[in-house]
Amino acid sequence: MAYKEEDAAPWADLPTPEVLPVARMLAELETVNVLAPLVRCSKLPFRHLVSLYDTHVTTTPMILAEEFSRSQPARVSDLSTSANERGVFWMEPRGVGAERGMAALSLTHPEDAGPSRAHKTYYAPPPHTRLPARLTPPTARSRLVRGALLAQLASPNAASLADAAELIAPHVDGVDINCGCPQRWAYAEGIGCALLRKPELVADMVRATKDRLGWGFPVSIKIRVDDDPRATETLVRNALAVGVSHITIHGRTRHQASTEPVSLPAIKFAVGLVGGAVPTVANGDLWELADAKRMREETGVDGAMAARGLLANPALFAGYTSTPHHAVENFVNLADDYGFIFSLFHRHLAYMLEAHMYKPEKTYFNALASSVQVIDYLSSRGLDFATPRKIPMWDASRGYSLLP
Ligand SMILES: Cc1cc2nc3c(=O)[nH]c(=O)nc-3n(C[C@H](O)[C@H](O)[C@H](O)COP(=O)(O)O)c2cc1C
Repeated sequence: MAYKEEDAAPWADLPTPEVLPVARMLAELETVNVLAPLVRCSKLPFRHLVSLYDTHVTTTPMILAEEFSRSQPARVSDLSTSANERGVFWMEPRGVGAERGMAALSLTHPEDAGPSRAHKTYYAPPPHTRLPARLTPPTARSRLVRGALLAQLASPNAASLADAAELIAPHVDGVDINCGCPQRWAYAEGIGCALLRKPELVADMVRATKDRLGWGFPVSIKIRVDDDPRATETLVRNALAVGVSHITIHGRTRHQASTEPVSLPAIKFAVGLVGGAVPTVANGDLWELADAKRMREETGVDGAMAARGLLANPALFAGYTSTPHHAVENFVNLADDYGFIFSLFHRHLAYMLEAHMYKPEKTYFNALASSVQVIDYLSSRGLDFATPRKIPMWDASRGYSLLP
């Protein structure tokens, strides 16, 4: 599209996007897609990339709460955000009567509706700066909604979780507590999966964070299913009692490798325990859009979260079955604009291009040692980085330069 400076901007008539807490997005909107927290991977350039392709909610990598509060270098390396990174989307409302999880949206604690708590909030979302992918609403009911960013925190105790949440809160739309990391070191530290059998501690964490930030501040949990269904029941019941905003359920137990298939019945069981009190998100084995649809239909969840599927194909939720060329070009541009260390830049491209390369080509690609070599290689494969980008800086909706 070419615009002349003197023409009225065709987007001037767009409504201001609604900024909704994630729980309300999940409760009120038909199809909410989520990028999973991914250590080292769900960083700013990648979050921005997937937001160009119908990923409505993104999550930071797990951030170790104690280190984050204590150390400035940890804060610098663990969290970079941009007001531009959240997408703006036309989203369809749920059918009348199909809204869910509305109890979670109350700003008051169920046991204490005192005015000081109810009104104390540090929740101040940054202004929107993006456009939707198309300027006209797909249907008469479509709502224009700004996407959301969650920070995932990991902590073995409530106080340090609340400390880190307080520092992060102004930059994100909610915090998520990691109750699912299965790694041995994490278990030994009392974080991640170690929390699955500590329901009181998880409840303390949610309560402490809300006490600090106000009861309206969204605090969610990401759990795994458990071999013992009573453990999941106790965990869910405790979290609901203290006002958790939504619950993400990864359908593998902590002993199951990611190569084992995810259990939809186990997710459905956990969704039944939540009983519609708050919205739910399901996670595990979403490799294409049809998987997300099946996940919703078979488990009754409100949102679908993908991890490895989005690494392999960041345009998954936009209906692409493998990474399209423009996603690679957009990623290279975003990594360049924001700055991204070479090892992560290279690793993301290896994930995205895996399905497009034969073995010798993978070996060649993996041995490339600088961004220049990688870009030369991609150009030789027909990707276009030479044409100057003509889209103005604020039109980040297409993944183009954020710099003037
Ligand atoms: C590289 C990588 C990093 C991950 N980092 C996190 C993390 O920081 N926090 C978390 O809760 N889960 C983490 N996970 C687990 C994913 O969020 C997700 O639960 C899991 O991969 C299952 O989803 P999938 O089948 O779509 O991959 C990670 C997974 C991968 C592959």
